[in-house]
This record gives sequence, structure tokens and C-alpha cells, in this order.
Amino acid sequence: MAFIITVANAKGGVGKSTVAYGLACYYAKRGASVAVLDEDIQQTITDNIQSWEDNGTGVPITLLKKEKIGSYEALAESEEYDLIFIDTPPVLTTQLEGIYDISDMVLIPIKPSTSDYNSLMRSIDTLKNAMNRNPNMITTIVINMAVKSSTVQDSFREAFKAEERIKVLDAELANRVIHTKYILDTYTLFDTNDKAAKAEMSALGDEIYYLLTL
Ligand SMILES: Nc1ncnc2c1ncn2[C@@H]1O[C@H](COP(=O)(O)OP(=O)(O)OP(=O)(O)O)[C@@H](O)[C@H]1O
Ligand SMILES: [Mg+2]
Repeated sequence: MAFIITVANAKGGVGKSTVAYGLACYYAKRGASVAVLDEDIQQTITDNIQSWEDNGTGVPITLLKKEKIGSYEALAESEEYDLIFIDTPPVLTTQLEGIYDISDMVLIPIKPSTSDYNSLMRSIDTLKNAMNRNPNMITTIVINMAVKSSTVQDSFREAFKAEERIKVLDAELANRVIHTKYILDTYTLFDTNDKAAKAEMSALGDEIYYLLTL
């Protein structure tokens, strides 16, 4: 059965779609069979994938349609894929509960800013309830748009140290302009020449895969 990775954060613009799409492309390029269920109202990943389909090219990622799958439970039973990413909207809805219930991992991108940290802490009870309902779900946080001089990212790591069930991943994604524009020129981050950005996304993918297969 597929590993289901849900990328979520009630805060908007933290990089959920960027991270979900970047990782989906990473695993697809490595030869995995990857699908995405785009539950983000922004439809960012759908737009990305359709832009290749319009050109008749791209990387092999299947865009799943909720109407076809029927239910989240049916998705969890799918034998067709190695990995399924679920991108989510920047709101806390009851829909998320159904998604968390079938997830092997929830991945929370967070920007190194105190307001983003406070926002995450306000939604932490929802997350803990989800972990209680689905004890198999691994909860991870990835620091996105990391800035070298910022000490906020260190304080995040410190703040979550005591949380046994929530892991702040070692891999971080720096704030790099390539993420905001590569889709204009190419299909995936891995088709660009930005070695540093590719290395960071790859390290994130490797760390996640390691945790899923432990
Ligand atoms: N590491 C990064 N460095 C620079 N820009 C980034 C990075 N990650 C994401 N971005 C940019 O930040 C913006 C928001 O990213 P994205 O759309 O992925 O966030 P989101 O959490 O999915 O937003 P929403 O909540 O609206 O769905 C986009 O313009 C994206 O290109
Ligand atoms: Mg999004």
C-alpha cells in the first residue's frame, strides 16, 4: 500500500504546495510511482501538472480526482502507488480530520517567524487529537524559507525538543528565489541548475523516506 503524506498548516503561504510538489517530483524522478490529491483551494499543484500536460511532457505524477476515488478510506486502500501526497488548504476544517486519519505522515512546513510559530501552536490540539485517533501517523515539521541569520529556527527546534511525537526534521529549505519562478521555465525543481535548492529538497525527501520505512 502507498505511503500517504499530507502536507498541512492552517497558516497560508508557508510553502505547503511548494514542498508537496517538490517532494512528489523528487520521488517520481527517483523512479517511485507517485500520485497527488490536490485538496488545496489554490490548486497550485493541479496548475503545475496541467501546465506540462498541455505541453505533452513532464514528470510522471498522477493527479488524483476525489470524485473518482470516492473516499479517503478508498485512497488508503490503493495499491497503485508507492507514495501519495495530499496538499491541503490553509484552514482548519473537519475535512482535515478525515485526511489525517488515513495519513502515514503529516508534514508541516513552517516559516521561521514567531507569528507562524504562534499560529502553529494554536492548531496543535487538533494535531494531537489526530495523533491520538491515528497513532501510526508520524508528525513532522520542516522549516521552510529558512534564513541563515535568523535565530528563530533554532528556537523552534528548542521548543519542540520536549515533544516526543512531533519531530522537527533536520533537513531545512532555505529561502531561495528559484522556488518562486522555476515553473515558468521548467517542470520541476530538478530540471533547474540550482544545485543547492535541489540538494535541500533531496535531503528532505531522503529524511522523510527514512522515517517512513524505519
Ligand atoms: N523555500 C522557499 N523559498 C522561497 N520562496 C518559497 C519557498 N517555499 C515557497 N516559496 C514561495 O512562497 C509562496 C507560497 O508558497 P506555497 O504556495 O507553496 O504556500 P502554501 O502554504 O501552499 O500557500 P496556501 O496556504 O495559500 O495554499 C509561493 O510564492 C512560493 O513560490
Ligand atoms: Mg497551497
